Formats: sequence, structure tokens, C-alpha cells
Amino acid sequence: MPDTRHEPIRAGIGTPLSRVDGVAKVTGEARYAAERPAAGLLHGVAVLAPIARGRIIGFDETAARAVPGVVEILTHENRPGTAWRDRNFSDETAPPGHPFRALDDATIHFAGQPVAVVVATTFEAARFAASLLRVRCEEEPHEMDFNTARVEAYDPPKKRSGHQAIKARGDAAEAWEAAPFKVDAEFHLATEHHNPMEMHATTVIHGQDGSLTVHDKTQGAPNVQSYLCSVFGLSSDKVRVVSEYVGGGFGSGLRPQWQVQVAVMAALKLERSVRVVMTRQQMFTHVHRPEAWQRVRLATDDVGQLRAIRNEAVTATSRFEDNQENVVNWGLMAYACPNADGDYKVAQRDTYTSGDMRAPGAATGMTLFEMAMDEMAETAGLDPLAFRLLNYSKVDAMSGLPYTSKALREAYRAGAEAFGWEGRPFAPRSMKDGHDLVGQGMATGMWEAGFQKTSARARLTSDGRLEVASATADIGTGTYTTMVLVAADALGMDPARITAKLGDSNLPKAPVEGGSTAAASVGAAVDLACRALAKQLLKAARKVEGDPLGRAGLDDVELRDGCIVLKEDRSKSVGFTQAMQAAGLDEVVAEETAGPSLGGSVSQMRTSRATHSAVFAEVRVDEELGVVRVTRVVNAVAAGRIINPKTARSQILGGVVMGIGMALHEETFADLRLGRWMNHNLAEYHVPAHADVADIEVIFVDEVDPVVTPLGVKGLGEIGIVSTAAAVANAIWHATGQRHRSLPITIDKLI
Ligand code: MOS
Repeated sequence: MPDTRHEPIRAGIGTPLSRVDGVAKVTGEARYAAERPAAGLLHGVAVLAPIARGRIIGFDETAARAVPGVVEILTHENRPGTAWRDRNFSDETAPPGHPFRALDDATIHFAGQPVAVVVATTFEAARFAASLLRVRCEEEPHEMDFNTARVEAYDPPKKRSGHQAIKARGDAAEAWEAAPFKVDAEFHLATEHHNPMEMHATTVIHGQDGSLTVHDKTQGAPNVQSYLCSVFGLSSDKVRVVSEYVGGGFGSGLRPQWQVQVAVMAALKLERSVRVVMTRQQMFTHVHRPEAWQRVRLATDDVGQLRAIRNEAVTATSRFEDNQENVVNWGLMAYACPNADGDYKVAQRDTYTSGDMRAPGAATGMTLFEMAMDEMAETAGLDPLAFRLLNYSKVDAMSGLPYTSKALREAYRAGAEAFGWEGRPFAPRSMKDGHDLVGQGMATGMWEAGFQKTSARARLTSDGRLEVASATADIGTGTYTTMVLVAADALGMDPARITAKLGDSNLPKAPVEGGSTAAASVGAAVDLACRALAKQLLKAARKVEGDPLGRAGLDDVELRDGCIVLKEDRSKSVGFTQAMQAAGLDEVVAEETAGPSLGGSVSQMRTSRATHSAVFAEVRVDEELGVVRVTRVVNAVAAGRIINPKTARSQILGGVVMGIGMALHEETFADLRLGRWMNHNLAEYHVPAHADVADIEVIFVDEVDPVVTPLGVKGLGEIGIVSTAAAVANAIWHATGQRHRSLPITIDKLI
């Protein structure tokens, strides 16, 4: 009989658990893509295009080739053949258009495009030789000014998957004209570049049989694998992509970036193992959050009830792909209002294609919309929170569909109470403390609650240890830990006896980790696999002498502390390993797939799904110096069931910090004459430092929702950034009485 004297371990969904990969990460045992050892490794360093648009005439390679250790210089003239297929699904996250192909031909599409890769026996030799390589170009006129590009903005002809159609209601134009109180304001968001701790890097290990093991910095190993197979015409059994640890992504790792293209190209040509690492400067040459313009018109009746919402936006894309986001939809969904319309366009300029960056679309469009909402509240003479409550919508106001759950009212209440919103003076410039003007602002956040088809495997071995595995990623979000907690919950096991494996294209298939869908999707798959495994254990338990569980089904037993316990007679139980032994099994394995169409109910189809938040911020503005300090943020989040309160809180903290960056710091400047991003390093591209971040309180309100996903989980990776910058901007108005409609609100704008 198993030992049941001690208290059973009750860890599972809802238990705060430290990251199971935490020790490996802080001790350096966890290796990133650029840290994977390989015998006879070569190093590649990319040379970037010095102009924004034109053609390569030729290369002066003599000096570079003379550097000792240089093995090869790859360019479009001597690269190995590719099997580029002009189809977008070679990368599951690509927008419509023609994906960038590194070293494809002589065309230069953007400044910073890789045009050559110097490969050498050491990184130092490759870098030095790269600095000696001369690229001769023929320049063509380019356009990098968003304001100029915006004049020719257009409705993207092909829709990106996940791009939501805008649905108007009523007659917003007429209602806006007729209403007594109105706001008409234009907003702007600067270009932002992702700056994860880990730069994009790839180590390709070339096997003797020609197979490739590609250690890549990515948010989706299977996506990179199928991409490489389609680019180079390789069969999938010859390419394995691994990304066990990822030092942050924020969306920059959703699409395969150019370093993986050129690293594989070099490995194939030289039949050697090759590593390519982007420098921090080079990180500013690829994906970025698009610069955005948004015009919001709002109108209310005499008591502050919304009569019209008109929401228009344009975001930047490249000349070769139509990157598009859901920018204006949020404003049409969020509030009850009989008349609403929206318009969304993209504008081309000569850069790399913009792309997803944490809460793409909402972080832009909901944030700027919520700044307009603050102006509307002021114009209508209402407290900003009271104004939002007055216009609260229980349903998705754009589709008219009910939400599977929407505990935003509770989030407003909990957030306002924790923040101490009550008693906030209505008028700006009402709170002064010494040199500082103090202001308080708030905003509503929204994000999708997505669920994607995902597979997972559970394996229990005779030593009583469980391994759960899926090809998904952990980009710092805590996926390893949520997988362990879900398995512990499903099988009633001590989390210390469970390990999670992920980030490997050989593991059960999973989509890219994006859109805050991984916790709900991988969680559901792990749960299914564990339940299937439990069924097998129950069957094996029949072989135990005396058959103590009899004909009991899964509903008749409880799984706890590694045992199957009969509910109606708790003295009767069988240990997992005892059952396996009796049945002569070394291991029990189950693999299952979860997905929206697999077991999703009809009621799920006729609903809207979203997470919500109420963000409150307090700022102190030194009027003489223009310095803004965000002294307090309270972010109250309604995101369904929380698997791991500890890592969940970390996600919101990180999102709020990025939101502070969006409000005050982050901005990439273009030199319009050269057509280049200028501040391409962390000294000049500012992100919040410790001194910029003070008190952040995270609240999760109760939201029970068994419909949204099988475990009632909604996902948290992105909601924390949405509208945080709006709460800060609204607080800056409350402090100073000045409306700043262009983010970030830097010192120069305040003095
Ligand atoms: Mo996120 S922008 O979906 O990685």
C-alpha cells in the first residue's frame, strides 16, 4: 500500500509556483540559441545595406577575404540555391505580400537589409572582415516619412488571418454632428522596436548525414522548421528546430528573422556548423511596432451617454508586405453606443515590414482611444471612471454578441478601491506637492482571449515521475511552469515530480507562442493528455491484487499524491507505480490535441471572447524640468482562471513597465534623408530603467468562465500593456492641464 499518512500535496491550478526553469536561468545552465556548443563551429557576421532603396552593383571583398580565419563571404551572387515558394504560409504568422528573402538578389528594400555574410573561424575575425567589406550601390529615391506615406494610405486588399473586419452601426457621422458634447482629436504613436534581452541568434549544427539541428531564437520552433523546409526545399525529417530557452520575444520572434535564413544558408553551402548572432544595433533593422496615426471623434448627449464613436487609424508597413493590425475595432467594441464607425488603412514606406509587438493593435488603438475617452469625459463634465461606467457594455458592442465573461465592472471596482480613486478632484492642476504637479488618470484595457489547436504528451515512468511535452515556447512567460501546474492538477501529483519539455519541433505540434493563447491552449492539451493517461492508469490498476478499485471509472476516483483513491471508500487506493507494476508497464504515455473545434461547444461560436483591465496611474510632473514620474500604477485584470498567480503577476508587471515605456520613453527616430533608424542602441532608444518604475499593484478579479477555453483560462501575456500608457497620459493631463496626444510624452513636449 502506498504511504498515505502524510498530508497530500494540493498544488495545482491556482497555486503560486516559482518558475521551474528559474534556477537554470539564473545559474546560466539554461542556454540560449547563441550559447549552444558545436564542434568546428563557424561564425557568420552580416553586412547591412548602407542605403534605404536601390541595387547592389558589386562588392569589394579583397580586404575582407585577406583577414586570417575568413572562410567564405556569402552574397546573392554565390549563395546556395533556395526553393523559395512565393506563398505566405511558409511562415504561419506572415502578413500578405512577398516575405523578405535574405541575399536573394541585388535589390535593396530597406537600410539595414543584410546583403552579405562573412563567415570565419572566430567571431572576431568575421566581425573585423565584415567591417572591411565594401558594398557598391546604386541609390533610388526612398520614403521613410510616415506623414508623407500616410497620404497614400490604403485598405489592405488581402486580409491577414486574425484581422477582424470593422462593423459599423447606426449613423455615426450624423449623430456626431447633432450631439451637444464632442471631441475630435488626432493621436500619434512613435515607431517602437522590440528589445528582448536575448538578441536574435541561430546556431546551426550540421550533422554528418546532412541533417540540421537549428538552435534558434524563436517563439515557435515548428513554424521555423516548416519555414526552413519551404525556403530551402528540405524534407522535414532533416531539419529539427530547438528553442528551449528564449530571452524574451514580445513578438519579435513570431516570424523567422533573417539571421536564421543566412545561418542555414551558410551551413548548407559550407557543410559546417554555423552561428549567426544579430548585434543590438542590428536588432533595430527588422521587426518593429508600426508608427500610428489615429483620429477619434466622440460625442455624448447632455448626461454623458455616448451618441457617436468614429475611430480612424493608419499604421506603417513596408513596400513588400501589408502588415495590418486590429487597431480601431477595440473602440467600437468597448462601449455601449448606438452609432459607431471605423476606418483602418496602412501606409507603405521603405523599411522592413512592421510586425507584432506585445498586444499588436490594441496596445496602439485601444490606448489612443482611451486617451480620447478621457477628453470626452472632461468635455461631458464627468469623472473618467463614472463616464466609463455610464457607458458600460455587457456585450461586444461591435458584433452584438455576448461575452463568454466580462468582469470589467469588478475590475473597475477593485482597481479604484486599491488605488484610492474616490475623491480625486475633477479639475486638472488641483493637486500640488512642492515642485510637483500630481495627477491621476485611468483607462480601460482589452485583449483577445484566444485558443489555438495544440498538442501535448504526458509520460509517466516507473520511478513515479511525469514528463509533459509540447512544441510550444516559453518566452519568459512561464509556460514551463504552467504546464507543470496543469499536470499536477490533473493527476494530483507533487509538481516536484513533474518536468516539462518544450521548444522543439520534434515534440507534439504547437503554434507559435503569441496572442496570449499559449497558457489556455497548451494548458488544455496537457490537461487532456494527463486525463487520458489517468484512464490508462485506472485500467492498469485492475491488475492489482484484490482489485481494490473494482469497476470504478474516472468519475468515481480522486487522483491525489500519486494515488488513485476511491471516492466512496477512501481506504481503498492504488498508487500510480503500483498499478504500472501490476500491469507490467515501464511507462504510460498519452498524447492529445486541444483546439477550438475539438470539443468546443456551439455556445462558444456565438460569443465574443476577451480579457479586460482597469488601469489606474498616478504621476508627478516637475513643471520646471518637465520630468514625469509614474509613482503608482494599479492594474486590475479580468482574465478568467489564473493558472499560476506568481508568473501571472509577473506578466502584468512586465506589461505595465512596457506601457510606461510607451507613455514616456520608447521611440525610434528615422533620418528621413538617409532613410535609416538612427537611435539603434539602448543608450539612445530608451526603455524604462529601475528608477522609472515605482509602485505597481496587480489585481486579478474573479472571473469564472468555463466556455472561453476548457480550463477557463484566458491568457495574460498582453493585457498588461494595453491602455497603461493611456492611464499615464491621462494622469499627465490631470497633473498639468495639457493634453499630449503624441506618444511618448517626452520632456521636450512638457516644457
Ligand atoms: Mo505576441 S506580439 O503575440 O508575441
